[in-house]
Amino acid sequence: MQGEIERVAELVCRSQRLVVFTGAGVSTESGIPDFRSPGGVWDRFDPEEFTYQNFVGSEEGRRKYWQLGRHIYPVIKNAEPNPAHYALADLHRLERLDCVITQNIDNLHQRAGVPPEKVIELHGNATRARCLGCGRSYTREEAHEWLEGGVEIPVCPTPCGGIIKPHTIMFGEAMPARETHEAERRSRQSDLFIVVGSSLVVYPAAFMPLYAKQSGAALVIVNLSETPHDDYADVRIPGKAGPVMERIVERVKERL
Ligand code: APR
Repeated sequence: MQGEIERVAELVCRSQRLVVFTGAGVSTESGIPDFRSPGGVWDRFDPEEFTYQNFVGSEEGRRKYWQLGRHIYPVIKNAEPNPAHYALADLHRLERLDCVITQNIDNLHQRAGVPPEKVIELHGNATRARCLGCGRSYTREEAHEWLEGGVEIPVCPTPCGGIIKPHTIMFGEAMPARETHEAERRSRQSDLFIVVGSSLVVYPAAFMPLYAKQSGAALVIVNLSETPHDDYADVRIPGKAGPVMERIVERVKERL
């Protein structure tokens, strides 16, 4: 693995536009379960029950979603960035990072020190919520306090009474247009594209490494398990995100 680490560090030092693309695998070392590893979220819950249609279409759908949220949100809220998140913040401080495109909703890239304007959140952010009726913004804390206080389905206070929805993209929901277009633009402009901790099976997010490759970028995949895009990778490191990213950034610092 040392050879691959050296190779990636060399690519980072030579890169002018490095884009890092992350999935849930970058946050498992912070204690947040991913979705498709054994024991992941979709091993324990049926994704079919948590679609956008179910949420907006029925009170039962919203009740189930908020019940799941009561278990998952505290894990996200209490999680701390791990060495992989801090390594990306280091790359920003070394002026080596164009942006992070993330599928994660846990806000850990921002908390590790990557400026919010450099984090493109394709699937939203779990720390915020909004009313689908009047558009009023809420923090997830406010909604969580209502849940802890016995409210089963948070609704916008009178006179609105609208549905309050976490600011995360559910299956079947339209992707955020601005973030999706910007992610594609930055992927196509990149000269180095590093995937960290994603199974690369959910689209349109999983198109981003292909856009980068098609535009001539070098593609690096750091992921414990195989992905459908491995054959396109110039370098593949089947290791843990924290230690691998930490060693890559250490070598970059020694070379700069
Ligand atoms: N280091 C490196 N890789 C890891 C680590 C780790 N510490 N932990 C897990 N992984 C890898 C797993 O092997 C897996 O291939 O990270 C990948 C995580 O894949 P998924 O669980 O599918 O997560 P992700 O790719 O982010 O899913 C995309 O699917 O359910 C939706 O909206 C959800 O954003 C999510 C999207």
